[in-house]
Amino acid sequence: MDKTDYEKSVNFSKIPRHIAIIMDGNGRWANRKFMPRTMGHKAGMEALHRTVETCARIKVAFLSVYAFSTENWKRPPEEVNYLMQLLVEYIDKEIDELHRNNIKIMITGDYAALPVQCVKGVEKALDRTKNNTGMILNIALNYGSRREIVRAVRIIAEKSLNNEINPADIDEDLIGSLLYTQNIPDPDLLIRTAGEMRISNFMLWQVAYTELFVTPVMWPDFDRSILMQAIWNYQQRERRFGGLK
Ligand code: FPP
Repeated sequence: MDKTDYEKSVNFSKIPRHIAIIMDGNGRWANRKFMPRTMGHKAGMEALHRTVETCARIKVAFLSVYAFSTENWKRPPEEVNYLMQLLVEYIDKEIDELHRNNIKIMITGDYAALPVQCVKGVEKALDRTKNNTGMILNIALNYGSRREIVRAVRIIAEKSLNNEINPADIDEDLIGSLLYTQNIPDPDLLIRTAGEMRISNFMLWQVAYTELFVTPVMWPDFDRSILMQAIWNYQQRERRFGGLK
């Protein structure tokens, strides 16, 4: 199918409720253009802007994006600082439009450990959009899925020591209720750009039955037509959740 044909074939009454995205390939995109990696992140921010706008327009209910992982601290300090700066810039630039479009910001991850300017920006965005009722934009910041699960296990262990929980009552619902995503459904579709076939510690618990779509396109080049290709692909799948047809 031609790139522009997917949109014509998408069933807009069956848009996935929750789309999650691993926005990968900013660095490679920049390298190919003989530009510094930071320019790739800057272009990645524009791709994020486009994607949020399109998802809200086609009535995706939840959009989760992996903006900064617990492992990303291993990058050179200049790149980490640039990403932190970009987060503040993203919020400053986008907050009015996000609010106008009735989008509610949500954060998964330990954002309190980010530099103070980022924490302030994040809190401003959370507060400004807290009563919005449209799409939820869930930004994963200083997020790692294993760490999220460890955090839940610690809460359970403490409650158990205090006799507030009986080990026999520990079930999937209880664990799910202690994750950052406690109030939102699991992703229906996980998109990863830049071709890598891995989950990279993103929402491990939540993607148990999520449909995966990997595109070779680098994140800064991600656009509406590739989103439509991903959604079209998703709509061709038969989701059985381990059962039979
Ligand atoms: C992966 O590309 C991308 C990231 C680690 C950061 C994602 C950040 C953005 C899309 C920028 C804007 C968003 C906010 C909210 C700050 P990579 O650097 O791993 O690329 P590579 O694998 O080609 O090196």
